[in-house]
Amino acid sequence: MKALMQIGYGSLKENLQIQEVEIPKISLNEVLIKVHSASINPHDYKIVLGEFKKMEKLSFPTSVGSDFSGTIIEVGKNIDHFVIGDEVFGTSHGTIAEFCKADVSTISLKPRNSLFNDISVLPVVGMTTIQSFNRIGGIKKGDKILIHAGSGGVGTFAIQYAKSKGAFVYTTTSAQNSEWVKKLGADVVIDYKKENYLDICSDIDIVFDTLGNQYTFDAFKIIKQGGNVISLLPAEINKQVAKEFRIPKLIAFFLSLKPSKIKKLVKDKNATYEFIFMRPNQLFLLEISNLVKNNRIKPIIEKVFELNNSIDAFEHLAKGHTKGKLVIKI
Ligand SMILES: NC(=O)c1ccc[n+]([C@@H]2O[C@H](COP(=O)([O-])OP(=O)(O)OC[C@H]3O[C@@H](n4cnc5c(N)ncnc54)[C@H](OP(=O)(O)O)[C@@H]3O)[C@@H](O)[C@H]2O)c1
Repeated sequence: MKALMQIGYGSLKENLQIQEVEIPKISLNEVLIKVHSASINPHDYKIVLGEFKKMEKLSFPTSVGSDFSGTIIEVGKNIDHFVIGDEVFGTSHGTIAEFCKADVSTISLKPRNSLFNDISVLPVVGMTTIQSFNRIGGIKKGDKILIHAGSGGVGTFAIQYAKSKGAFVYTTTSAQNSEWVKKLGADVVIDYKKENYLDICSDIDIVFDTLGNQYTFDAFKIIKQGGNVISLLPAEINKQVAKEFRIPKLIAFFLSLKPSKIKKLVKDKNATYEFIFMRPNQLFLLEISNLVKNNRIKPIIEKVFELNNSIDAFEHLAKGHTKGKLVIKI
């Protein structure tokens, strides 16, 4: 089968290649899927650039991609709730390929009212968003939420999700995206190139920080007393980040002894801080499916690429200005 493969660490052009490889073999709890569409996330190109090298050393060539939608063509012996022919979506490893295998716990039936391209863009961004807000006990009606980078993959899902829960949403993006991001439901759209969101937002219940670094520290300036900061990128390696990355307990203990800027900010604002590293969960996929069925979430796709042009898609995403998501049609 044809698959996009990573052959080393470094530049995307030099380390990604379309290759002819074996169709994966499934184990008892896995299904084999004929992939119809895959989508890419920043995590996928960051792996190639070597940003996760210290956490997980890869041997090459290795398959790439995590989001997919497709049709089941083989079912593992332990599986009784999926059958051949089921149309599914979810996450796995090596989804930018003609076929991929997936553990049944990371797939769900495709909602009937969705297209393969559309549903393939939702698993990672949807599960990240749902896991994030669940971690702080959910969104309450009327909560004031700031979602950074509302025009990105995570942001476009998160705005719609927060609105479906009755929140008042502030978001940041550049002027060119302002109108369509407003149509997703954002109440206040802030042009991060011309305006300072710190002057506009105050008394915020939840900051959903998709940018990290200084954005994480600054979030504490605008949350109300007892507010919440949820970050997808670590601003510092503290005890909580170590836990999410499943760093061994002894190392986590030593990290907890280090002075932490965030710990102080949390104390001063009587706030909560959560760092999230998305872990796939079938219940979250079911929630995504229901949101799509009820027309609460509309997938936003900037461009569809063919498998042969998938390296161009990686380069496009890595520039950091994608509007919604990119799809790779297999
Ligand atoms: N921890 C986890 O489990 C997890 C899960 C998913 C994602 N993430 C991380 O979360 C981040 C966001 O992911 P994503 O998929 O949404 O990325 P993305 O789709 O690549 O985000 C691109 C968008 O970000 C906007 N943007 C860039 N700089 C901005 C700024 N300073 N202020 C406001 N908007 C800005 C861009 O708008 P303009 O074109 O207007 O600049 C663009 O539309 C990535 O770093 C990703 O790795 C982490």
